[in-house]
Amino acid sequence: MDASGWQPEPGWQRLPGAGPATAGVWSATIGGRDVVVKRLERPEPHDAPGVLVAADVNYWRRAADVALSGVVADAPGMREAPVVRVEEDADGVTLVHERVAHQEAPGLWLAACLGRFAAVDLGEHRWLARDQLRSRLALVERRGGWRTLARTPMADVADHLWTQRTVWLDRCDALAQVAQHGDPSAANIPGRTPTGDDAIAIDWAHLGRGPVGADLGYLSLATREDVGPLVEAYVAALPPGLATADEVATGARVMAVYTALTRLDWALARVADGDGALAGKFRHPSVAPYIRAMQRQVDQIEALLA
Ligand SMILES: Nc1ncnc2c1ncn2[C@@H]1O[C@H](COP(=O)(O)OP(=O)(O)O)[C@@H](O)[C@H]1O
Ligand SMILES: [Mg+2]
Repeated sequence: MDASGWQPEPGWQRLPGAGPATAGVWSATIGGRDVVVKRLERPEPHDAPGVLVAADVNYWRRAADVALSGVVADAPGMREAPVVRVEEDADGVTLVHERVAHQEAPGLWLAACLGRFAAVDLGEHRWLARDQLRSRLALVERRGGWRTLARTPMADVADHLWTQRTVWLDRCDALAQVAQHGDPSAANIPGRTPTGDDAIAIDWAHLGRGPVGADLGYLSLATREDVGPLVEAYVAALPPGLATADEVATGARVMAVYTALTRLDWALARVADGDGALAGKFRHPSVAPYIRAMQRQVDQIEALLA
């Protein structure tokens, strides 16, 4: 496992779907409590750029800093699953949270939770993430942009949006900057507080500040509801006067469109090397969901092109 010889304990059940930044996620029972254990490995200096930079979106130990600081332990709108323990050694950090029981949540309710959460004062911590979308797109730029989208029927649209990215990023920087979870997929917001008013979220590795609406746009990639009603629910939950519905729609739209296209380009690039024309790959099971996600953004894409 780790170079250190850190090992999961016998009886822990490995959970599927742990992302690249994680050495593993396990379900376990510790001291009679149902918990989830997540192991973060300290990166080598030559690993991905940014992982050792505290404010970088990919900072490797932010989830541990969030748990140790308690900044979102009681946050309104959305809070962290209760922390059981955080153990640090030379090679990484082991994070233990209470296991959250999964409850289906409607998109409008989640949108309102994100709106209330936007008002949280996170204080000044060097490890809060900044410039999330800008740095993600900078990583895409290092790889040469959306190179595989350039080989699809949406090449012109993609090229236009890619060229305009700085304009939209600058506009988003001019919006109110608020607290954001940074990765509010439905899977990362599994639970509810006992009163049922607020959400319980996991996977806080991207916590920081960003344009009003950005978290909502990210959430909208995974909800059934259209972005219009989601924006209404989010705005109604914001502190009065913080932002207009148009401003929220802009923050949400830019995050949703640039994220959907980046994911689609990445999914296409993974299958593009094999035999056959790229057009034959649009139905590939590892691509088709990203095509559908992009198609759901057509109105948002049009609004950015207008
Ligand atoms: N506290 C928790 N309660 C319930 N399930 C959890 C918890 N933490 C993680 N999981 C499960 O493990 C998966 C991966 O954990 P997560 O922290 O989201 O890591 P990743 O960075 O890989 O997305 C989650 O999608 C969820 O299914
Ligand atoms: Mg996750």
